[in-house]
Amino acid sequence: MNAPTMQGLAIQAPSYVKNAKLIAWVAEMAALCKPEAIHWCDGSKEEYDRLCQQLVDAGTFKKLDPVKRPNSFLALSDPSDVARVEDRTFICSEKKENAGPTNNWMAPAEMRATLQPLFDGCMKGRTMYVVPFSMGPLGSPIAHIGIELSDSPYVAVNMKIMTRMGKAVYEVLGTDGEFVPCVHTVGAPLEAGQKDVAWPCNKTKYIVHYPETREIWSYGSGYGGNALLGKKCFALRIASNMGRDEGWLAEHMLILGVTNPQGKKYHVAAAFPSACGKTNFSMLVPPAGFEGWKVTTIGDDIAWIKPGKDGRLYAINPEAGYFGVAPGTNMLTNPNCMDSLDHDVIFTNVALTDDGDVWWEGMEQDTKTLPAHLIDWQGKDWTPQIAKETGAKAAHPNSRFTVAATNNPALDDAWDDPKGVAIDAFIFGGRRSTTVPLVTEARNWVEGVYMAATMGSETTAAAAGQQGVVRRDPFAMLPFMGYNMSDYFQHWLDLGKKLQASGAKLPKIYTTNWFRKGADGKFVWPGYGENMRVLKWMIDRVEGNAKGTEHITGVSPRYEDLNWTGLEFSAEQFATVTSIDKAAWQAELKLHAELFQQLAHHLPKELPETKAAIEQRLAA
Ligand code: GTP
Ligand code: SPV
Ligand code: MN
Repeated sequence: MNAPTMQGLAIQAPSYVKNAKLIAWVAEMAALCKPEAIHWCDGSKEEYDRLCQQLVDAGTFKKLDPVKRPNSFLALSDPSDVARVEDRTFICSEKKENAGPTNNWMAPAEMRATLQPLFDGCMKGRTMYVVPFSMGPLGSPIAHIGIELSDSPYVAVNMKIMTRMGKAVYEVLGTDGEFVPCVHTVGAPLEAGQKDVAWPCNKTKYIVHYPETREIWSYGSGYGGNALLGKKCFALRIASNMGRDEGWLAEHMLILGVTNPQGKKYHVAAAFPSACGKTNFSMLVPPAGFEGWKVTTIGDDIAWIKPGKDGRLYAINPEAGYFGVAPGTNMLTNPNCMDSLDHDVIFTNVALTDDGDVWWEGMEQDTKTLPAHLIDWQGKDWTPQIAKETGAKAAHPNSRFTVAATNNPALDDAWDDPKGVAIDAFIFGGRRSTTVPLVTEARNWVEGVYMAATMGSETTAAAAGQQGVVRRDPFAMLPFMGYNMSDYFQHWLDLGKKLQASGAKLPKIYTTNWFRKGADGKFVWPGYGENMRVLKWMIDRVEGNAKGTEHITGVSPRYEDLNWTGLEFSAEQFATVTSIDKAAWQAELKLHAELFQQLAHHLPKELPETKAAIEQRLAA
């Protein structure tokens, strides 16, 4: 293979890389970013181990105790680089209206002109990693290939866990296969002799998507959602554009299998906003009273969903690992997750124990005591006394683990089946202290789309900015929509019509809220494994075997419609998580109206019609 040379740097691709477009693009990007070296990742274990050791040597990784946490590492980020940056995330479509009112937009030419000087020389003194990855099973007709160029070895090793990454991707790519080009830099070039920091990043950040040319450019951050470009940037923002053009869906959804005691299996896909319970729900352990029920994980964050020839919707998980929230995870809330984290994990921004293990808020539930001393996520001493006095958290609220799906003891046998699994029900679930009841079933597809489109949720630490503020988060996709939100609503409505016309049974649509609070400010619903009680009701509804009561927005269970074996939860407590307050719903509908005003351009008429029907029921 010829080796194009740019500024003295040989673009010596390995012999198995045969895609001329790829080699030319790497050469072009190397000429722009001016790395000191280029490393073509092969995805091998040796490479992973070598890069992890390199990260240890650089001070980015701390190797954890090899007995307590074999082959695992802790990274502490720069304190300013801990979450997605929604205000720095851009959808640069040719026309502003195609990005829609919910996205930051800049004309592609203007953005390219803005980024050009930032990327010029941005990788000086660093190695450019060429990271080949497949979203979805390698070679499957539903999978898509991406190549991420990054100057961060932290990104390379995380991508190895989160995607199917490595040499085999090039075989699928062949000489002229398509790939989504993804360029990432931490934006911290090193001058000759300059010492590096443990977590390089830049105050200036740009997370940029060009939907028409299917490109991703990310500058200045090393944090997962900003830097692991296969995840939100590709599998949601770019893939939602692919899905619109090709008639499928890219969703911020977990996918689970649930098997009843008779052995019949169902599949559920659920969209909850960031840090609102997808990972936990996808790994649910049925509580006492649910003997014979089993929940298995297909995916915990992203679903690609395509209509099959039989008129049903088939979902795959395009990822191969979990980048999950650590705080709150323990043996009571999520034992499957804790077991997944036994070995081969990258932790980011959790606390370090004195014996070389990790700790985060919530673990005290297992040990019944707080550790006497920790190094917190900012590298400072932490003691229960300091925490009491200053409120300092040992782990950042958005601290995360990166772990392979194959570590999960509840992994579904079909988790990487290229056919995907047929969806029986969709769930949309926000985080709401008030107003929204525990569970509601939409009476039909349009009502379900309405509930998803108008969903509100309190903001969390997963994104930079204020927390706990209720905002509309349509379909849990607000930060991840790659095009106009109203066109996306239309896409969902059109898909429903198409499926209905085929005569197939449409998936039922539910909304949930695990997060209603009592007068004491505490969650009333026990959540986690106890969410099985709600899941069973949904599955029984799919079979036509459970009752409920109709109200303004749909159908909800009465107290006697749920199985309470094994849990003390009174009818009064149930009322606090299910009651529908008229005044609160009047206020809520005003917020729906505000959303519809914002999204007026191309808003499907079915949505204001559904709103009018709800208002009528509310007035009656
Ligand atoms: P992203 O990875 O950001 O998309 O988040 P996610 O939707 O997968 O959320 P995850 O399951 O990681 O949960 C986020 C936080 O909510 C954690 O601290 C959990 O412990 C907590 N949580 C999850 N499920 C429940 C629940 O049913 N009830 C309560 N009270 N908290 C929950
Ligand atoms: C989320 O914020 O929804 C996540 C984490 O799942 S990240 O990949 O950083 O977006
Ligand atoms: Mn997510």
